[in-house]
Amino acid sequence: MPDTRMKQVVFHLRRYEPGKDREPHWEQYKIDSPPGMTVLDGLWKVKELFAPTLAWRSSCRMGICGSCGMLINGRPRLACNTQISELQSDVVAVGPLPNFGIIKDLVPDLHPMFEAHRELMPYLIREDLQEQDSPTGEYWQTPHELERYLQFSYCIKCGCCMAACPTMATDPQYSGPMPLGQAHRYNSDTRDGGFAKRRELLEGGRGPWRCHFAGECSQVCPKGVDPAKAIQMMKQDLVFDLLKLRVRKPAARLVDKPCGKRREDIPAAPPRTVTG
Ligand code: SF4
Ligand code: SF4
Ligand code: FES
Repeated sequence: MPDTRMKQVVFHLRRYEPGKDREPHWEQYKIDSPPGMTVLDGLWKVKELFAPTLAWRSSCRMGICGSCGMLINGRPRLACNTQISELQSDVVAVGPLPNFGIIKDLVPDLHPMFEAHRELMPYLIREDLQEQDSPTGEYWQTPHELERYLQFSYCIKCGCCMAACPTMATDPQYSGPMPLGQAHRYNSDTRDGGFAKRRELLEGGRGPWRCHFAGECSQVCPKGVDPAKAIQMMKQDLVFDLLKLRVRKPAARLVDKPCGKRREDIPAAPPRTVTG
């Protein structure tokens, strides 16, 4: 049976204001926690009652935008996607994501992650640039081919995997699980022809070879992306490519134009609800 009682919890929050604090420190705030309260709701309550300058990032409140990654009771999680009750503790300790600099309080500096992401060209790379910029049709892809990268495309760039990765903690060169996972997402897409371009970066010190496949990144991922798996598949692709065993195909072509047959079974659009 779910616990429906109001209870009191103590938020231990990592506070840091650059230019004012010499280093981050903990502060405590006690609040009432009704059933269903999320850690993000609790932060708003703390801000409203005690700490108006408390800073963090959030936007969607529904696990979609990826803004609210934080270290919550020792584990990187989304604050909006974590109910206080599931922590099974009267103490909620919240700090900024590790392995990043701190901008203020609970706001990590995600710039290095997005820079590594940008470097690895997380978009379709095509030879038919004119077609890509001014499309005349759709690229051909089967449902089976979609399955090859679909799981990796669920990434919301929250940075939780980066915060959990032990290699990130010790090797500033390493691109990290999010950028590498996303590079593999595009390398696995049959509409993409950018493997050779990305390979130049992936073969160096920023590539997947520093990953020792402990899998912490995948364990904390709130979207089930499994970046550790993507990175191991990327290593396999690179080795096969080196041995000239990787199957190379031209990037998917445009689907054939419909040959003059009209679809008769498409329902008419509903009437407009707003006019003028
Ligand atoms: S792989 Fe998962 S944990 Fe990492 S950034 Fe994407 S959604 Fe977040
Ligand atoms: S599997 Fe690789 S990327 Fe993931 S946490 Fe471990 S070392 Fe980091
Ligand atoms: S606020 Fe958007 S993922 Fe939490």
